[in-house]
Amino acid sequence: MKNLITNLLPAILSATALLSDNTTLSAQQVTIPIVTQNNAIVLQTDRENRLRTVYFGEPLSKAEEYAVISTQYRFDEGGDGIYNSAYTPAGTWSLSEPAIQVTQANGNPSLELKYVSHKEQKLDDNCILTSIVLKDPVSLFQVTLFYKAWKKENVIEQWTELQNGGKTTVSMQKYASANLWFPGKGFYLTSFHGRWAKEMQGSEQLLTPGIKTIDSKLGTRAMLLQSPNFILSFNQPAEEESGTVILGQLAWSGNFRLDFDVNVYGHLRLIVGINPYASEYMLPAGEMFLTPSLIYTVSRKGTGEASRNLHDWARTYRVLDGQGERLTLLNNWEATYFDFDETKLTTLFKDAKSLGVDLFLLDDGWFANKYPRNHDRAGLGDWQENVKKLPHGIGYLVSEAKKAGVKFGIWIEPEMVNPKSELYEKHPDWVIRQPERPEVYYRNQLVLDLSNPEVQNFVFGVVDSLFIKNPELAFIKWDCNAVIYNAGSAYLNKKGIPQSHLYVDYIKGIYSVLEKLRAKYPKVPMMLCSGGGGRGDYEILKYFTEFWPSDDTDPLERIFLQWDYSYFFPSIVSCNHVTDWGKQPIKFRVDVASMGKLGFDIVFSALSENDRKFCQEAVGNYNGYKDIIWKGDQYRLVNPHDNDMASMMYVSKDKARAVMFSFFVSNRQRLTTDVEPILLKGLDPAKKYKVEETNRYPGTRPMPNSGKVYSGDFLMKIGINAKVNTGNTSSVMLIEAI
Ligand code: GLA
Repeated sequence: MKNLITNLLPAILSATALLSDNTTLSAQQVTIPIVTQNNAIVLQTDRENRLRTVYFGEPLSKAEEYAVISTQYRFDEGGDGIYNSAYTPAGTWSLSEPAIQVTQANGNPSLELKYVSHKEQKLDDNCILTSIVLKDPVSLFQVTLFYKAWKKENVIEQWTELQNGGKTTVSMQKYASANLWFPGKGFYLTSFHGRWAKEMQGSEQLLTPGIKTIDSKLGTRAMLLQSPNFILSFNQPAEEESGTVILGQLAWSGNFRLDFDVNVYGHLRLIVGINPYASEYMLPAGEMFLTPSLIYTVSRKGTGEASRNLHDWARTYRVLDGQGERLTLLNNWEATYFDFDETKLTTLFKDAKSLGVDLFLLDDGWFANKYPRNHDRAGLGDWQENVKKLPHGIGYLVSEAKKAGVKFGIWIEPEMVNPKSELYEKHPDWVIRQPERPEVYYRNQLVLDLSNPEVQNFVFGVVDSLFIKNPELAFIKWDCNAVIYNAGSAYLNKKGIPQSHLYVDYIKGIYSVLEKLRAKYPKVPMMLCSGGGGRGDYEILKYFTEFWPSDDTDPLERIFLQWDYSYFFPSIVSCNHVTDWGKQPIKFRVDVASMGKLGFDIVFSALSENDRKFCQEAVGNYNGYKDIIWKGDQYRLVNPHDNDMASMMYVSKDKARAVMFSFFVSNRQRLTTDVEPILLKGLDPAKKYKVEETNRYPGTRPMPNSGKVYSGDFLMKIGINAKVNTGNTSSVMLIEAI
């Protein structure tokens, strides 16, 4: 069992080893502030030595006053126990939704948690790790709460370590990552839901008394219908430039559950973790279980600042190679689907070169022989080149791409299998299913059992052998199209491990494969895809450089999708491709896709001469400003959800360069989107900036503002007119200090 958690462990264990022990006598009241630049969470023991959250708000200037905050409150009025418990156990004094629910081997379902000790470790000038040990005096079950706080970015990562200190196995029915408490009243929650090609559809509501639950039970592709990302706004609906907001996410790629619990006083509890649904987990004596992390940032100046902080944090501390470079590419999926051969592909390599992108990405359809992958009903699992389509193998393609002057990348979906495949025939016991029931398919496929180490080795081997055979392979697109139906594991049965471990062990399994892959191939860029945007969280993004937000590449739709993803993710991780979806002109499509990591999925040679010329110039322009998009500060200027236009801006950290994108997003005629200027943000008021239109379509007249010089002060107080309207649906402006 220990192996299940090792991938998350080393950092924490080594960190713990360095901690200075602050063990406090149990009779004494203990106050533990967790402070970032703009926020303080204060935890305190009560007379019974239970740990409570007594404050969530602005930091106090006199640290000694944290200890007396609780004297101003009268808690415990509800009759449901301690509403502000820092980690609510079940079966004793609490009758509210628990953070943890366990049953002892003798059937005793009660748990008490008392404060034992806490430690603080300064990891660097910006980051403090606080850990707090709580223990049940009767069963010796132990809970350690971890809070890792990054001061400058106001980001907190919170997780929990559960340890069975008793003599018999404990069964855990619920094991949350975090249990927060917020005083005040009037909490607005923006949650996100979706389906295929309609991911990240936000909706905001005032939370009313009772529990609002956001969850997933899909196993894999967990974010397809609900998202583990949320915006919580205090006292008012979330605003971009003002108000206290939290942007949060459970960093876990499997089933999750977020409970927002409002009581009669309006106070809010937030309990977040792995979904307990069908996931009772057994913890043998002496073993421990590490929960995934809740990651959140707090801002008192609205969602704009909160996003910029989260973006900075993600690039610096989380996403693989978050500060690095990315490859622009041409993908063949929508250009060919499954219908290609070597001649078609090598012609596309030349297209990629002429377009000016860095890499050619070969998508689905290149593998399987007995059941060739000529459609999505067969072949998945058989990762040998299809000899009819690719008689000379991948190696030939890699070298032909190199000759054409581009790198080569490839699509895989190694966790899944078509029943029509040799893999399924050979290893039916590797497939998640209930053998006595009819199989249920999602996109004609089933999920492999990643709780099984043999299957983990197989998945590792798919990628490893591609790299061994083709050391110059430069990019992987890792897809995951199916959800888990008929959750059943032959492996767990064989090992005598309860089936209720499957959902959790699957995700631990995939993380351990990725851990092993990254140990061997630390930097190769890998795009995470899940039938569009079904997967993408800050745990799995430790292993991926970027992700695919949606198969919906209609540029009009995409403006909204990219806008909503941008609350949580920096543009460097968002793969945006120009395709033939939608009716917008090529300029509009390229402009939209440029707000992220630019790619193309079109038949370039079939475009008109002017369209081709435009694309080539646009890729060149992008190469000139991509560092601002990837690494600069993002400002959401005009929200397409409330307006007939959208405008987004990126500013370099030194405020010397910026790029602004504006789009007309309505079908209605004679709108007034070009009547007023748009206020720019994030510039230096004292600097002078030259405004220049870029990505201009051949033969069109430049914007009236193009070439003009304005002060940063003017641009931020008066603004510039982006001139988007029914005739001119998009514009891109470079704003450079002179
Ligand atoms: C998924 C992905 C697409 C494409 C196809 C290939 O749907 O989201 O981008 O790779 O699979 O089958």
